[in-house]
Amino acid sequence: MTTIVTDNCQRCRFTDCVTVCPVACFHYDDEMLYIDPDVCIDCSACIPECPVQAIYEGDDIPADKEHWITINAERAPTLPVCDEKMDPLPGAEERKTELGF
Ligand code: F3S
Repeated sequence: MTTIVTDNCQRCRFTDCVTVCPVACFHYDDEMLYIDPDVCIDCSACIPECPVQAIYEGDDIPADKEHWITINAERAPTLPVCDEKMDPLPGAEERKTELGF
């Protein structure tokens, strides 16, 4: 099982996670990041880096977020790699507050 980015990343995209990834498995679109399960080595280094707890081990993912396993696998290979910190999306701090962080 791989590591999964879930909906808390949407409208945040803080990208702290990519700074610790040893294999450049993150990809991005205008909303969030996705992990390519064929590249991720499941080191879990990114999980504690996310300020909105968007990332889960596949084995620990809550039932209501399980559909993100397929979304990451389908979306990541179609999108550009994100291997450097980017500016968070506009409104990311407000979204973080909304999410309770
Ligand atoms: Fe998203 Fe968290 Fe990374 S908001 S970009 S999963 S640090």
